Amino acid sequence: MKIIVTGCKGQLGTEILKQLREGRSEIGPIPEKLLNATVIAVDLPDLDISNYKMVDEFIRRNRPDVIINCAAYTNVDGCEVNHDAAFKANALGPRNLAQAAEKTGARLVHVSTDYVFSGRENGTAEASRTSSTSDTD
Ligand SMILES: NC(=O)c1ccc[n+]([C@@H]2O[C@H](COP(=O)([O-])OP(=O)(O)OC[C@H]3O[C@@H](n4cnc5c(N)ncnc54)[C@H](OP(=O)(O)O)[C@@H]3O)[C@@H](O)[C@H]2O)c1
Repeated sequence: MKIIVTGCKGQLGTEILKQLREGRSEIGPIPEKLLNATVIAVDLPDLDISNYKMVDEFIRRNRPDVIINCAAYTNVDGCEVNHDAAFKANALGPRNLAQAAEKTGARLVHVSTDYVFSGRENGTAEASRTSSTSDTD
């Protein structure tokens, strides 16, 4: 099995790589097929997930079975003012990965946050309406 971990230098990426390397997570050993996987760890500037051409070429060239997306623009206050940068990394990036995954038959694991929801709904799902601080306060 071949796994690509994007945003590998971040907090989540570092932890995922550690678990794949050590063969265990907090809840116990990881499955053997993951333990023996070929792992390709990548981050900026080698792979900018907001760049469709770069993503398409990278995924076609490496042909992963699984892509674990740990890349994101996570500066919450920065996202409130730098809408374009936030949209590129957090919306276009996952879209690019999803399209590349679909084309090559890879599975995409995308980790996100509940910080984009207002918290007023009784539970949230992927399709729940997002709401910025300025919409809710
Ligand atoms: N850490 C947590 O406890 C936690 C909890 C819940 C959810 N999450 C979610 O997990 C994901 C990762 O969070 P994190 O805490 O690991 O964030 P992080 O530490 O900020 O790491 C994100 C990584 O992505 C890279 N990156 C940014 N823009 C990119 C782009 N366009 N293309 C490729 N790489 C890019 C960053 O590089 P630069 O540093 O150079 O910008 C950084 O290495 C986020 O979606 C976050 O919401 C994390």
